[in-house]
Amino acid sequence: MPIAPHGGELVDRFLAGEALKEAEARVKQLPKISVDAYVAFEIDCIAKGIFSPLKGFMNKSETQSVLDAMLLRPGVAWTIPILLSVSQETADTLKEGQQIAIQDDRGDFVAILHLAEKFTFDKQEIAQKAYGTTDEAHPGVKYTYSHGPVYLAGKIDVLKAREVEHQEFNLTPEQTRAAFKAKGWKRIVAFQTRNPIHRAHEYLTKCAPETCDGLLIHPLMGTTKSDDIPGDVRMECYKVLLEKYYHPEHAMLSIMPVNMRYAGPKEAIMHAIYRQNYGVTHFIVGRDHAGVGNYYGTYDAHKIFDEIEPGSLLITPMFFDHSFFCKACGNMASIKTCPHGKEHHVHLSGTKVREMLQNAQEPPEEFSRHEVAQVLIKWATGGK
Ligand code: ADX
Repeated sequence: MPIAPHGGELVDRFLAGEALKEAEARVKQLPKISVDAYVAFEIDCIAKGIFSPLKGFMNKSETQSVLDAMLLRPGVAWTIPILLSVSQETADTLKEGQQIAIQDDRGDFVAILHLAEKFTFDKQEIAQKAYGTTDEAHPGVKYTYSHGPVYLAGKIDVLKAREVEHQEFNLTPEQTRAAFKAKGWKRIVAFQTRNPIHRAHEYLTKCAPETCDGLLIHPLMGTTKSDDIPGDVRMECYKVLLEKYYHPEHAMLSIMPVNMRYAGPKEAIMHAIYRQNYGVTHFIVGRDHAGVGNYYGTYDAHKIFDEIEPGSLLITPMFFDHSFFCKACGNMASIKTCPHGKEHHVHLSGTKVREMLQNAQEPPEEFSRHEVAQVLIKWATGGK
């Protein structure tokens, strides 16, 4: 039996056939709100069931439960609220019970919201409880503070899927589930990333599938912060790597159109929930998963899996300690397997790597594969 979707039901909020035609005909007559790319991605995730069992945007009591108990409802883990916010002026024009057209950042009418509840919520409380900080410098907190102050809750009906670059890799949960079935994979491990795959990442993605049937390399391709490496550059890195260093019958690449929140441990739980919906049974959680700056402890994203209600998440996390190439070992290792001192470990800071790439200098092969380094140098030097 494949793993059940989170909360038991794989949600599909796309309208089809007559219902779609009817909605397309009347959507322009409805009261309208405009949303940014971030919200447009959230709508796409709800529609495709990536956020199952959510069928729309959260109400006040769900938000409170998520923040206080890490539960969407009894027995169903959830750690970060999924919210739709508007300005006070916009909110004043909308009534509970109304249907509202949602126009995305590309000008398309993408969804109809069945407005069930308008509410306000203390943004500092959201920041503190979801992100562990009220510091505006945190990208997730910054986004929270810069929107609202009124939240709109209700189910959505979706008219259109959001197309992204490399759309052919943008498989829905239904499609990955079908792909795993076709391949005969039962134990499947997913790897979340928002970076190019360096040797430490590669090590994790080689160790974990040793006890599974297949590996899903599953980079996040929703919105990310501006200094993260762009998705199309990362995609090139993943492709060259897969072609040369991964077993074609035991690894596959697909992308996940989810926004990055940089919420560390809380986001690790969300990342696991999404992968369960994609039909994945195991999920890699390494060092400082989904972290940014110094907001989270190196292994907070491991510990939180013991803090959620037992049984409220079915996917199994696979924890990895800090990994690196050790010159004394002569191979990749981790703090758990290598007995040597730091002086033997190949470690480069992000800043150092950027500097090298901008100077068209390859980081050592123990840090990044030559093929990946070449793609990154081309990007960092403006394609010269
Ligand atoms: S993340 O925001 O998606 O977590 P990143 O793409 O850097 O960032 O990491 C992807 C996964 O690899 C995460 O599970 C992270 O914890 C893990 N990871 C990254 N670098 C290392 C490392 N050197 N050792 C162990 N795990 C790592």
